[in-house]
Amino acid sequence: MEPEIFINFKHYENAVGKGAEQLMADFHTVNKKNYYYCLSYMDLYLKSKFNDMNIFSQSLDSNSYGAFTGSISMDSLVDFNITGSLLNHSEKRVKKDDIINIVNNSKKRNFTIVLCVENIDEVKDYAKLEPSYIAYEPPDLIGGDISVSSAKPDIIETAAKICDYYRVNLLVGAGVKTQLDMKKSMELGASGVLIASGIIRDPKPINKLNSLTNLL
Ligand code: G3P
Repeated sequence: MEPEIFINFKHYENAVGKGAEQLMADFHTVNKKNYYYCLSYMDLYLKSKFNDMNIFSQSLDSNSYGAFTGSISMDSLVDFNITGSLLNHSEKRVKKDDIINIVNNSKKRNFTIVLCVENIDEVKDYAKLEPSYIAYEPPDLIGGDISVSSAKPDIIETAAKICDYYRVNLLVGAGVKTQLDMKKSMELGASGVLIASGIIRDPKPINKLNSLTNLL
């Protein structure tokens, strides 16, 4: 099975606004159904331009429509034809009660949640909610050059067993930069990777994305 690749644009300057549009136009030329693009709230409107691409939000709130200043509700995402979101990224943590609400609601709405966790205790705790995906990302490795697959192989293996039990797909992220990192992650039981700087901060993001999947 081909690895699922979730590209988190974060709030990097070259990946917001015009930069996001240019990156999406480039990625569109090599798009695959197993590629997911997690855009800034401000750029989610790009779904109307790149309708055939999997565009996800980077977070969302648990409220519905109403008097909730600054909110991004699942209702509004669904109305924008956005079919999924990251949740509880270590750079955007969310209260446990809200996580429970959002994950439960996502099942009724057929909305995909990638629930990010920082350690094995959170894997155990949150896999029980049965979100579509659990993404294990140790915060100390995020944005660095040491990949989670080489630094924490034993934790990935344990996380994969737990996720398998609950029939939740496992993603791993932090420091993923090469095809080897990705291959190792898959061998350890992940169904894909969550990657940001390895692609977005590369001088040629499209070539980097290609190099990750070519010859796999
Ligand atoms: O969401 C992806 C992420 O936090 C990992 O970041 O830059 O280490 O690929 P990076």
